[in-house]
Amino acid sequence: MTYTSERYDFTDKQAGYERLASELRSLLAGESDPIANAANTAALLFAALPEVSWAGFYFLREGAGGRELIVGPFQGKPACVRIALGHGVCGTAAARRTTLIVPDVEAFPGHIACDVASRSEIVVPLLAAEQVVGVLDLDSPRLSRFDEVDARGLERLAALFIEASRLA
Ligand code: SME
Repeated sequence: MTYTSERYDFTDKQAGYERLASELRSLLAGESDPIANAANTAALLFAALPEVSWAGFYFLREGAGGRELIVGPFQGKPACVRIALGHGVCGTAAARRTTLIVPDVEAFPGHIACDVASRSEIVVPLLAAEQVVGVLDLDSPRLSRFDEVDARGLERLAALFIEASRLA
């Protein structure tokens, strides 16, 4: 496999996400290990997307206090490990089963600050056989970095990750 990623200019976001989807499809082709695929997906997103300071996964697990999200493969600064379902942006997106765009993290009640430089965030729930199995999370140092085009683009990339990976 040849890794050809570059930081796309994303002037045309739609076109940028289409290129990214085709690159991710070839990156994951023939591999079903979820950790390997999550690691390569996070690395591709972090390398390609402008103004992103953290890109990675949290997976839903059964913990002592009930179901919680546990950090998975990511790129960026070290992050908080466990997030209870319904807490923070990640836990809220997972509980609501819907993508959350947070233009200003300081205005989101219950936001969990892993990186003080983070200003905006987007979280896409990962759905496998209609069950939430985790989330894809991206942070930016710029306010209002993410919009609906990012939401649809990242949902498509998340679906490619799910399709390729053997998730419980
Ligand atoms: N801000 C997230 C926590 C995860 S980090 O951003 C990597 C939240 O509120 O759920």
